[in-house]
Amino acid sequence: MDSLLIKGGVPLHGEVTISGAKNAVLPLMAATLLTAEPCVIRRVPDLSDVQFMAQILSSLGAKVTVKDDTVTVRAAKIKPFGDYDLIRKMRGSICILGPLLGRLRHARVSLPGGCVIGTRPIDLHLKGMEALGAKLTIENGYVDAATKRLVGSDIFLGGRAGPTVLGTANVMMAAVLAEGVTTIESAACEPEVVDLAFFLTEMGARISGAGSPTITITGVKELHGAEHSVIPDRIEAATFAIAAAVTNGDVTIHGARPDHMSAVLDKLKDSGVHIDRKGLTLHVRRNGSLKPVDVTTQPYAGFPTDVQAQMMVLMTVTPGLSIISERIFESRFMHVSELARLGAEISIEGPSAIVKGGRPLSGAPVMASDLRASAALVLAGLAAKGETQVNRIYHLDRGYERIDQKLRGLGARIQRVQEK
Ligand code: UD1
Repeated sequence: MDSLLIKGGVPLHGEVTISGAKNAVLPLMAATLLTAEPCVIRRVPDLSDVQFMAQILSSLGAKVTVKDDTVTVRAAKIKPFGDYDLIRKMRGSICILGPLLGRLRHARVSLPGGCVIGTRPIDLHLKGMEALGAKLTIENGYVDAATKRLVGSDIFLGGRAGPTVLGTANVMMAAVLAEGVTTIESAACEPEVVDLAFFLTEMGARISGAGSPTITITGVKELHGAEHSVIPDRIEAATFAIAAAVTNGDVTIHGARPDHMSAVLDKLKDSGVHIDRKGLTLHVRRNGSLKPVDVTTQPYAGFPTDVQAQMMVLMTVTPGLSIISERIFESRFMHVSELARLGAEISIEGPSAIVKGGRPLSGAPVMASDLRASAALVLAGLAAKGETQVNRIYHLDRGYERIDQKLRGLGARIQRVQEK
């Protein structure tokens, strides 16, 4: 298994360009199943999750070609079930359920795996499919959804922790080919949902309200091929902004969407990070000494759970006390014990982490547990004195395009160590 070897303590300087958003591209690729005509998706990041999704689409019978950052999918003839082992590997694969049901009126999808953050149920996805008329059976690790007629419905998709991002995507993708009107209440407002609605509309779907808690979909008989460019990855951009701040560097981030990052940028400013926004560019550097801030993760437009671990690293290098509360995924604190190995002082009290920041971090071998926790360990390694080895970085390769290369471009001393 590959690992990353980081010699920390070097302030990052220079320019970096953000890739297309992982969380947008997976549902976009799934949406190509809704038409027999070819679809072209551009600005696709080179990630193992994208390769998995390409393999899943192929295993369903679609013809997928990947050239540079462009993926072309032609799902002329597809079947309602794919390769169990592939789908099990990636939680994002659940978003093929909606398009398969929409197109074929039948979907058989294995219950997904992926990051180990909490139990991650799919009850809301299933509630949505049922509301559209699907009969569900769960057996041997599979969900089977089938119906003769898919009929529009009023669906409330709010759960215990608020709306569901992929659940909203799934219901939207099934409803575009249902008969009549579907209204999703408590829909996720994330930019990735808006990007998907945009692509579906380009394919001929009739959708209004995406980006708000109420989305209305008027079903159409069929969709056609379309071309689309994926939105920039707001989580990657936030990770690089925090990398600049934790190393006391000076970094210009190109190709970002600052308007998708307001909660993160606001907290960074409160903590003493200077941020200049100009169009799609962010210039990030520290503005004197850092100040502790409290952070609570929330659905969009609140502070994203996917940046919680990275923000915690910034707070560990900030003198003072801060409280970071996780409201979306209950067990998303796996990075805490590894950060402690680098010298961080963090205690967990229920859904909150109390960070006593300011103690210098020192390098150590650490183990990555999920995607964003891995990013946090890399940031901590960049800030720590001495050498940090981040093991199990396959998590990182799922969601960050060439992160080691991009960080090296900013002057970081980071090497990928390949195990023979
Ligand atoms: C997506 C993102 C992930 C991000 C998360 C929250 C992708 C590929 N992944 O995941 O990076 O961390 O949004 O912003 O886009 N829930 C239920 N029942 C369900 C579905 C979800 O109770 O059927 C709960 C979850 O356990 C969690 C909350 O709802 O507490 C939000 O989860 P959800 O928005 O569905 O996350 P994902 O879409 O899986």
